[in-house]
Amino acid sequence: MSSPAPVVSVLLDPDWAAGTLVDDVRRGLGATPLRLPPKWLYDDEGSRLFDLITRLPEYYPTEAERAILDLHGADIAEACDATTVVELGSGTSDKTRVLLDAFDATGRLRRFVPVDVSEATLRAAADMLDERYPDVAIEAVVGDFTLHLGDLPGGDRRLVAFLGGTIGNLYVEERGAFLGALADSLDPGDWLLIGTDLVKSSDRLIAAYNDSQGVTSAFVTNSLTVLNRELGADFDLDAFSYVPFWDAHMERMDLRLRSEAPQRVSIPGADLEVDLASGEEIRVEISTKFRPEGIRAELGAAGFEVAHIWTDPADDFALTLASLR
Ligand code: SAH
Ligand code: TRP
Repeated sequence: MSSPAPVVSVLLDPDWAAGTLVDDVRRGLGATPLRLPPKWLYDDEGSRLFDLITRLPEYYPTEAERAILDLHGADIAEACDATTVVELGSGTSDKTRVLLDAFDATGRLRRFVPVDVSEATLRAAADMLDERYPDVAIEAVVGDFTLHLGDLPGGDRRLVAFLGGTIGNLYVEERGAFLGALADSLDPGDWLLIGTDLVKSSDRLIAAYNDSQGVTSAFVTNSLTVLNRELGADFDLDAFSYVPFWDAHMERMDLRLRSEAPQRVSIPGADLEVDLASGEEIRVEISTKFRPEGIRAELGAAGFEVAHIWTDPADDFALTLASLR
């Protein structure tokens, strides 16, 4: 069956990568402790490595979230009256097919809007979705969900899906700002479906972020490759080791790169020289784990009312449906 090509809008301006990368790097590597913002993990190689992570035996969240969608996709589609589904940080939209199938079965789904910074991954996903849902308009947006929420297509009842626990990669103050901006961009009665990993034993958490094949380490280390390429930096990848640890107080995984020797790194594109002591760490990513009461509180503070929280049979992961008051 032939269907019109998917529409892909590019909201990131050509200087975005260069411009915000420089700002992020100056801010992050000018601070103590050193940190890098996670959206730079997802260049083409990073997206490829992330896709491998989702298939690792130790990395339970993807399959747990898929199980919830398999078990409750029809309940979700029935509970909300959306005709447009928007997906933030959609990546390959692999699991999303389960949700879209359930919506498609109601006959209400008119439009799907996947949003991601990773253009090549998004374009491939848009083609796949266009083929699978010939009667649904696919309107992909190459955009940054921390910047472009106000520019997403509207006009009808929307469900915004934010899967994969990606909200947990934001710091608590960033989560508040993100949820507030999302609420501002939606109309009362619009819906949010948000995936969050749950607090569990530190052994399983550490194993999930420290797989035996070293894929996660390669994924996190790839952030330095991005800086070498985009900003002409001279990070020596072999001089860093990957250190994931569970921060029990903040209830989050803290994923860092440790400099194993004193070194000076120059980052000409950001006009920056960074001196790293032996043992000094750069925090690349956090992955916050949640409890149901915390999910309710954070969504409530942004003006969302929780309609339902579903978990997988092992209670590893939660999918929460909420509406904007
Ligand atoms: N939703 C998928 C992918 C999660 S990985 C899943 O559940 O498996 C996180 C995704 O968010 C990646 O595809 C990455 O490119 C994207 N992403 C990260 N930061 C982003 C940002 N600020 N704006 C838009 N997309 C972002
Ligand atoms: N949102 C995912 C998570 O926090 C992203 C992710 C999976 C990730 N594996 C990772 C981020 C490894 C950094 C490193 O679980």
